[in-house]
Amino acid sequence: MKITFYGHACLGIQINDVHILVDPFISGNPKALAIDINTLEADYILLTHAHQDHILDVETIAARTSAVIVSNYEIATYYEKKGFEHHPMNHGGSWDFEFGNLKYVNAIHTSSFPDGSYGGQPGGFVIEGEHKNIYIAGDTALTFDMKLIPLQTKLDLAILPIGDNFTMGINDAIIASDFLECDKVLGYHFDTFGYIEIDHEAAKRKFFEKDKDLMLLEIGEFIEL
Ligand code: NI
Ligand code: MN
Repeated sequence: MKITFYGHACLGIQINDVHILVDPFISGNPKALAIDINTLEADYILLTHAHQDHILDVETIAARTSAVIVSNYEIATYYEKKGFEHHPMNHGGSWDFEFGNLKYVNAIHTSSFPDGSYGGQPGGFVIEGEHKNIYIAGDTALTFDMKLIPLQTKLDLAILPIGDNFTMGINDAIIASDFLECDKVLGYHFDTFGYIEIDHEAAKRKFFEKDKDLMLLEIGEFIEL
């Protein structure tokens, strides 16, 4: 499994030959100018919620790639009406895709489209790939519901928002890592805007002091699990 950070909360995940794109917000991110959305591969686009900083480039990329848009019922049908391929899910539901099992799980946040229309309830995703399992939290507060995930899935990586203000910050992300029983964390949703700028070294040190590993990738950088 290869995971590429495209800035903010956007990730590219490659499992075998399948390309998954999560929450594409690139063309509006001044820190991601080096990423060309016209070259990104996508068989599936996973959307955690409807906020602009998670869906901005969905239509451009889906129109070119014919990717299947996977999200909650409201978001999936919003794109269905626009003629895009879609797969609706809702909280607690899972489905066996060609890349593995995908579950849509709870998040504590909000989810309106940029025009104010209803974007359902926000969520996160658990992907059980062929060899590795990951959790993509989406925008969320720390929540006890995270304790449900390791009851069924042994995680190899937790991808958690760490920018604070709109989501949990570093201290809550450390507790989330305990709840998830996963000490390996990839941080996202930080630095894009002034409200969510963080001190990278201080954040990593806090994790290190708890015997945990916080990875922060440069935009365009990837890791392999
Ligand atoms: Ni949001
Ligand atoms: Mn956000």
